[in-house]
Amino acid sequence: MGVRTDEGRSGGRPDVLVIGGGVIGLVTAWRAAQRGLRTAVADPAPGRGAARVAAGMLAAVTELHHGEEALLDLNLASAARYPAFAAELVEAAGADVGYRACGTLQVALDADDRAELREIELLRRRCGLEASWLTGRECRRLEPMLAPGVRGGLRVDGDHQTDPRRLTAALLTACERAGVTFHRDEARELTVTGDRATGVVLADGTRVTAGQSVLAAGCRSGGLAGLPPEVAVPVRPVKGQVLRLRIPPGYAPFLSRTVRAVVRGGQVYLVPRLSGELVVGATTEELGWDTTVTAGGVYQLLRDAHELVPGITELPLVETLAGLRPATPDNAPLLGPSGLDGLHLATGHGRNGVLLAPITGEALAEALTTGELPDYARPFHARRFATSENREVPA
Ligand code: GLY
Repeated sequence: MGVRTDEGRSGGRPDVLVIGGGVIGLVTAWRAAQRGLRTAVADPAPGRGAARVAAGMLAAVTELHHGEEALLDLNLASAARYPAFAAELVEAAGADVGYRACGTLQVALDADDRAELREIELLRRRCGLEASWLTGRECRRLEPMLAPGVRGGLRVDGDHQTDPRRLTAALLTACERAGVTFHRDEARELTVTGDRATGVVLADGTRVTAGQSVLAAGCRSGGLAGLPPEVAVPVRPVKGQVLRLRIPPGYAPFLSRTVRAVVRGGQVYLVPRLSGELVVGATTEELGWDTTVTAGGVYQLLRDAHELVPGITELPLVETLAGLRPATPDNAPLLGPSGLDGLHLATGHGRNGVLLAPITGEALAEALTTGELPDYARPFHARRFATSENREVPA
């Protein structure tokens, strides 16, 4: 296929090309455009990736796992930015993003779950977080729909939610209003001229050149043709199946906050929206690129959610979907300069993409304008998995 150039079609060469129009790509493009950079995004269907499946929990605390203490600081910093970020985005897009400061209740159903949750309580205390244990009765006082068998739990008042579908729609509008250009096509290959990334060739053969590029293609980031071998992008897909139920009008209040638990070793969470949608998630499956919704996945989620909140069986089941989380070896994102001049990474956000959107947009805008990541983002610099010969001191 011949290669065309996009010059003229999009009004001149962009300063920044963002490869991938998911929540991370869109927030990066919006923030870059706000800094006065001429910005373009390449994606065949912006906003239709993992964020379409995600529940939108802003779970800095309840998604904390052993070994992820450094990530906790980034997650908390992004969570703290959410109220102002959501308000700014609502203003910029003229559309709601479903941000809801409702908090989370994390409960245990049996003795094993309780022992695990007690462990989590200790981890949180070690990290300087408040964690106070509630009895089963206290949990049910907060959420009367909880099963009588709930043994106890932890109240986490700072873990809120947003609606990722509304969020990405608003980001798309905000980008358009800020002058971002969209190439609704797949980036087929990164172009490298000399020792510098210079843009991409799209699937239709169009060459898009840009001063700097940002690889924000979620779990597909590592597969972009043309990436030099010294740019390590160790991102793999981790499948999550998610259900959407509807709480009919008049049935409310069903749940007033997110309720979650570890049941038989698997995570289950119920995220109630003001719109009446109830999101139940999510499986965690290492199955490559498979996005099949399986009877087993749906059964597992409904069974576990039913044990927590028996009343869910009365609700209409309106949607089942599977998405792919972009996971890295240390479960933390890859941010900023990649080691190849002209190429930044904004990928690998794993279970925390929606939560980390505000701080990622801010950090990448800083890196694109100054060449350096802000201090809070340096532990997550994009070169940490490069081979030692190629690894440099993080910018
Ligand atoms: N953050 C929730 C999940 O990835 O399932």
